[in-house]
Amino acid sequence: MSRILVTGGAGYVGSTAVALLVERGYEVVVFDDLSMGHADAVDPRATFVEGSLLDPDALRNALAGCEAVIHFAGKSLVGESVEKPDLYHHVNVDGTQNLLDAMAIHGIDRIVFSSSAATYGQPVDDPITEESLAAPTNPYGASKLAIDKMISASGISAISLRYFNVAGAYESSNGWLAERHNPETHLIPLVLRATEANPLKIFGTDWDTKDGTCIRDYVHVVDLIEAHILALGALKPHVHEIVNLGSGGGYSVREVISVATKVLGRAVPAVESPRRAGDPGTLVASIVKAKSLLGWQPTRDLETMISDTVKSQDR
Ligand code: UFG
Repeated sequence: MSRILVTGGAGYVGSTAVALLVERGYEVVVFDDLSMGHADAVDPRATFVEGSLLDPDALRNALAGCEAVIHFAGKSLVGESVEKPDLYHHVNVDGTQNLLDAMAIHGIDRIVFSSSAATYGQPVDDPITEESLAAPTNPYGASKLAIDKMISASGISAISLRYFNVAGAYESSNGWLAERHNPETHLIPLVLRATEANPLKIFGTDWDTKDGTCIRDYVHVVDLIEAHILALGALKPHVHEIVNLGSGGGYSVREVISVATKVLGRAVPAVESPRRAGDPGTLVASIVKAKSLLGWQPTRDLETMISDTVKSQDR
């Protein structure tokens, strides 16, 4: 079975990929600088290399013997990217160029890349297809779009997966792999930790949506990783495909609160707050291409995403 380099394999999404890959019999090398990830999230059956995308020698060494790369590593906080655009360009774009250069040295020409719905910016289509205008509104999204373009120009076999809102958790044979961001900015973990003293802030109740709150397309992290494994098998020589990953449907912030209330069996304290800068009102993926190109179908619903997150936090 193939040996795969997983960059960012100590993070929330990357560590889930590592666990599922080793459970499917892949040999996995994890490359992560632990700036956001956690060493204890790395499956013990994988080989762990602590290193940075900004260190070409470390990348070259880690890639020895690998046949393909799944590239998750990079800075991923939208708010921070607005404050430090140069840092985001340097780590994400220059770092990925280092990765592509190191792959070329080894003759490795297969990559699955973790892109983002943030490449589309303020959406002009609902649902958003891969042909929709890509006009990012923050440096994080701009860095992901620049990488997509760089991969296209490189001519290698590639699939960029544009994630919408990833949620849920995976119980690997070594325990739950939880979302452990610091600071946490994502809705579902914040809904679960809301208290009367620290209620959830609902960012905007005057959006042009069914209940006035933002609509997002949530996809379970296990479904998301299944798509990466399918993508590894769907790579075609010298072709770069872009594929959206969501569930193809949207939930409002109030609907997320209501499903969480049911899962928790208690009220979720929440207060109405102003819109968050940079938020679009509605972001929903078309997943037609993911179904046809990858043969992928997400199967875990929002209730499962929330209940798995609860279980992962109780661990
Ligand atoms: N929200 C709240 N209160 C909070 C946190 C979030 O109301 O305390 C709302 C947001 O306004 C948004 C929704 O919940 O409408 C989801 O917010 P998240 O921060 O969980 O996720 P985003 O949709 O902002 O971000 C996601 C990914 C990013 C990616 C972006 C693309 O997490 O990595 O989609 O637009 F860049």
